[in-house]
Amino acid sequence: MGNDRTLAVLLTADQIHDRVRGLAAEIDGAYPPSRQPHLVSVLKGGFMFLADLSRALQRPITIDFMGVGSYGAGTRSSGVVRLTKDLDTEIEGRDVLVVEDIVDTGRTLAWLLDTLRARRPRSLRTVTLLDKVARRTARVEVEHVGFPIDDHFVVGYGLDHAEQYRQLPYVAVLGEPGSLVGAVDPVAGRRG
Ligand code: IMP
Ligand code: MG
Repeated sequence: MGNDRTLAVLLTADQIHDRVRGLAAEIDGAYPPSRQPHLVSVLKGGFMFLADLSRALQRPITIDFMGVGSYGAGTRSSGVVRLTKDLDTEIEGRDVLVVEDIVDTGRTLAWLLDTLRARRPRSLRTVTLLDKVARRTARVEVEHVGFPIDDHFVVGYGLDHAEQYRQLPYVAVLGEPGSLVGAVDPVAGRRG
């Protein structure tokens, strides 16, 4: 169901794993040794990145989840952000690290950072796996970026289109229905 579209691999599972290890080292270096970052993952897209990043960090951490959505199931976010799940614990005085799958216009992240900052964390940083730099409209600072990417609609490694493709271990550009360009086997990630 919903799998009539082609996928062209943009980032392989190996490329992602290498970069996640690099990001983890960057993040470990950004905090004094005594600090225990509190990772705030943005559902649902951030779940796979969080799982890999948290295991690559070489220090104690804690984890919480936040759900934010923009209305609609299309390939463009509407910019209207709503909170679908709040954090379970207070973040006042804590070193919060927001773990995002992708920053597009930046409107979701800008809203999220404003919301979190109002709760007075000791520090607030952001890591995103993917950054569509050219699409940015909101003024937002992202300290750690996995991969800057061009303006394609991508799926996999947590990212969805209408709730499909989140489980793919790689990131792929979603083709138009009926197009055969760059088709891959959606399970193995190999070009067909
Ligand atoms: P922003 O508010 O425009 O930065 O949009 C951020 C949200 O839009 C992300 O957290 C994703 O949920 C979604 N999004 C933006 N671009 C993509 C994409 O290429 N694939 C899948 N979801 C995307
Ligand atoms: Mg997201």
